[in-house]
Amino acid sequence: MRRCGFINRVTAVVLQPASVFTSLVWRLVVPLVGGMEGFERNGSGGKSLRKREDLTSFEPYSWEPSTEEIARSVGISPGRVVRMDTNVSPYAPVEVLKRLAGRLPRLRVNHYPDTSYRELRELLSDYADWDQDLIVPTNGADEGIDVISSAFLRSGLSAVAPVPTYSYFRVSTELQGARFVPVERGQDFGFSADDLLERYDKSTAVFWICDPNNPTGNLTDEGALRRLCEETEALVVIDEAYFEFSGRTSLRLLRDYPNVCVVRTLSKAFGLAGLRIGYVLCTEEVVRELNKARPPNSLGTVNVAGAVIALRNRGYVERVVKEIVRERERMALELTRIDGLTVFPSSANFLLVRLRSESEASAVKDALLRRGIVVRTFPGNPRLGDCIRVTVCSRRENERFLRALRSALEEVREGRRR
Ligand SMILES: Cc1ncc(COP(=O)(O)O)c(C=O)c1O
Repeated sequence: MRRCGFINRVTAVVLQPASVFTSLVWRLVVPLVGGMEGFERNGSGGKSLRKREDLTSFEPYSWEPSTEEIARSVGISPGRVVRMDTNVSPYAPVEVLKRLAGRLPRLRVNHYPDTSYRELRELLSDYADWDQDLIVPTNGADEGIDVISSAFLRSGLSAVAPVPTYSYFRVSTELQGARFVPVERGQDFGFSADDLLERYDKSTAVFWICDPNNPTGNLTDEGALRRLCEETEALVVIDEAYFEFSGRTSLRLLRDYPNVCVVRTLSKAFGLAGLRIGYVLCTEEVVRELNKARPPNSLGTVNVAGAVIALRNRGYVERVVKEIVRERERMALELTRIDGLTVFPSSANFLLVRLRSESEASAVKDALLRRGIVVRTFPGNPRLGDCIRVTVCSRRENERFLRALRSALEEVREGRRR
C-alpha cells in the first residue's frame, strides 16, 4: 500500500469523543455479528481478537502524510512545503479565527454541544437556500458519507459509482459490509446513465456521484442524474464538496425526487478543513433515515462556533472562489504550453494533468517533492497512473509550482536521455 511507512507508525487510533470510538467499533465489528463464521481468528500470546474476515484484504483510505513528515523526509523546513495534494484552500480565514478567539472564553465546553445544531442549521439553510429541518450537519463531508452508508447499506446490499472517483465512497461502502460496484467512466471521464443502470439490481441501495468529480474535475450531466433518480429506487448521493468552484448545484433535484441527497463541506471554499464541518441536504424521506444513523455529538462546540462565524461573514468565500477560478484557468493555460502535458478541463479547485507515462508521473512527483511541492499521483491506477492532480493555490504558490514543474520535467526527461 502507498505511504505505508507513514501509516505503520500510527499505532494508536486518535479519536476524541467516546461516541466516535463506539461508532467505529460498531462499523467494524457489528455488521458481521450473527455467526462466528464471520470472524477471523489469529492467535498471538494465546489470545485472539475477533476481527471481521471480510476486511482481511480490505484496502483502507490512504492517509496523507503530515507536512512535518514530508519536510523531514526531504530535509526542508515545514514552512517551505506547499501542499497541492489535498484540494483545500490556500487561505486560512484569519478574520474568522480572530472572532472565534474572542468568543472562546464564553464557550461552554464543559457541556455537550447542542446536538440539534440549531444555529448552524439556520445559517446553512440561509447559505444553501434549503429548509433547515432537512439539513444534517456532520463532522466533515466524510462523516456525511459514513452516516449515509450506515443508514442505507449493509451486507447483501451494494453501492454503484462511476470511477475513477473519490476513493472514500468505496471505503465507506465496504466498511458496512456492502459491495462496491465500480463502473468505468468514459474517455472524457463522463458517464452515461445507461452504463450505471445496467449495474442496477435489487441489491443496489446507493449511487455515489461526485460532482464536480474528484480527481478528474469534470461536471456530471444533469440528465444522467435525473434518470438515476427517476428510474431507480436507490438513493442518489451527489457529493458537491467542490460545488462553489463550479457555480452549479443539483439541489433542485431534491424538489423533484424523494431518493436523492447532496453532501457538502466547509473544508474547501470556506477554508475550514481543520474545523471538520460538513452537511447533507436531504428530502423528508432521507432526513428521517439519516437522523437514525447520525452520532449525537460528533461536531465539537469550538468547531461549530467557528463555522457559525464563517457563515455569518461569508463575503470572503466569494472572493476566494473568484481568485481560485481565475488562477485555475491561468494555470491550465500555462500547463498546456508545456510539452507532453494534457490538462483536463476542471470545474473544481484542482487540475488533473496527464504526463507521458506512469514512470514520468512518479519521477516528477518525487522531483517536485524535493523542491518542496506535494502533488497527488495515482500509482497502479489503469486510468490515472500517468497523471498528477494539483490543487490550485495562491498565485505565488502556483508560480512556484510552474517553475518547479518545468525544472522537474527537464531533470526527469534529461535523466532518461542519458
Ligand atoms: C469529493 C469529496 N468529498 C468529501 C471530501 C471530504 O471532505 P471533508 O473534509 O468535509 O470530510 C473530499 C475531500 O477531499 C472530497 O474530495
